Amino acid sequence: MQASKAENVGRNVVVVGTQWGDEGKGKVVDWLTDHAQGVVRFQGGHNAGHTLVIKGVKTALQLIPSGIMRDGVACYIGNGVVVDPTHLLAEIERLEGIGVEVRSRLFVSESCPLILPFHVEVDKAREALRETSGAGKIGTTGKGIGPAYEDKVARRALRVQDLKHPERFAKKLRELLDLHNFALSGYLHSKPVEFQPIFDHAVKVAEQLKPMMADVGYILHNANRAGANLLFEGAQGTLLDIDHGTYPYVTSSNCVAGNASAGAGVGPDQLHYILGITKAYTTRVGSGPFPTELPMDEPGTVGNHLSVVGQERGTVTGRPRRCGWLDAALLKRSIIINGISGLCITKLDVLDGLKEIKVCVGYELNGKRIDILPLDADDIVACKPIYDTFPGWAETTAGITEWDKLPVNARKYLERVQEFIGAPVDMVSTGPDRDHTILLRHPYKA
Ligand code: GDP
Ligand code: IMO
Ligand code: MG
Repeated sequence: MQASKAENVGRNVVVVGTQWGDEGKGKVVDWLTDHAQGVVRFQGGHNAGHTLVIKGVKTALQLIPSGIMRDGVACYIGNGVVVDPTHLLAEIERLEGIGVEVRSRLFVSESCPLILPFHVEVDKAREALRETSGAGKIGTTGKGIGPAYEDKVARRALRVQDLKHPERFAKKLRELLDLHNFALSGYLHSKPVEFQPIFDHAVKVAEQLKPMMADVGYILHNANRAGANLLFEGAQGTLLDIDHGTYPYVTSSNCVAGNASAGAGVGPDQLHYILGITKAYTTRVGSGPFPTELPMDEPGTVGNHLSVVGQERGTVTGRPRRCGWLDAALLKRSIIINGISGLCITKLDVLDGLKEIKVCVGYELNGKRIDILPLDADDIVACKPIYDTFPGWAETTAGITEWDKLPVNARKYLERVQEFIGAPVDMVSTGPDRDHTILLRHPYKA
């Protein structure tokens, strides 16, 4: 007998970063929420910093999905996300403080691993040790992300659901603390962490979190079958992916589109359109190779222009972001790995006024030309970018909402990038505000 399929199923879009994060995912997710009834985070944690600007008012989000600023949109934190309960409540309260209703429409998967204070200690102590041992810091956000994912993979993590059972929580916490305190005091030259304050605090936050705990995968399935369109919001970027990124200078989760399925609990056949977000240039926060990086300190240089005009400073840590030309050879790899359906090129306006614009279209590596970012870390470091150079434009593109109104050279630049990478540019962003957007093909209608 053949099972009948629901007819009015929703359409789902995945938004992922195609570079090293901070591509403008939050802005684009917020823009797309007029076509979605639910927004889902599926990996990462509060290492993410997504800034939305709506009618001139800025809101920075870290853990709560960027759908929260649109009334009535449901927001989901999927099982693939690591949750710091103290941070989550603080973020909820911050939003409530500006009049945003959160608790009635935020659903947190019971399976999310928890980030607890000792994860933060381990993260920081390990970075300090890497520095003194000469291995070099990763440049993490210091939020405990890596150590929390390690506990998950080692099958010893405390999860959101454990907060409902104080005795179970206490037992698991004692065992986990024994392990981490052994490492903290014996190896990481740091102080051990006490059980009681963590436990007492967990009992308090549990009461507040219980009403938001949910079986997210099942709710998403039912919402979709009832016709709801979902939007999956990636954090970080493809080159920070634990498998596909510039390892070891990466984060500790899979940031690629495929993880929207595993990290939220939906079937891969439910991911209908993958939107890659790409800055019109490249930035990176933290350590690691970056072939098209430019020096930024001297006023009048391109690197300085990108940093200053693009306001390239990390949302979470306040660190300056390293800046460089667009690397289209790197994008080629991102497009393949994510199965990109279309791209949104953001921050085009930051290139306004540059005399010429360069795009990396391949590298010279050991005397040979290659046209895609290599996988080996040492090879990436050794890559010398090969650039195509385009004339810039003197006009401003800031806030333009129609393709035909863009300067001719801006259009030529985007067309050449599209041709080289072999994926359609479906959207262009010309400013931080929700409305500063050019639409060429709508992800929910493509
Ligand atoms: P995300 O982590 O990918 O969501 O990106 P972030 O929010 O960390 O960083 C992107 C920054 O660029 C934010 O401050 C946005 O407000 C801003 N932004 C996004 N799109 C544009 C754009 O098209 N032009 C300009 N000038 N700023 C933008
Ligand atoms: P969004 O979602 C940019 C970087 C850190 C560091 C590395 C590992 O805003 O794009 P972690 O704390 O995750 O262990 O740090 O990853 N990183 C980000 N860089 N944007 C982010 O998020 C990032 N989240 C982590 O700087 O290099
Ligand atoms: Mg960011």
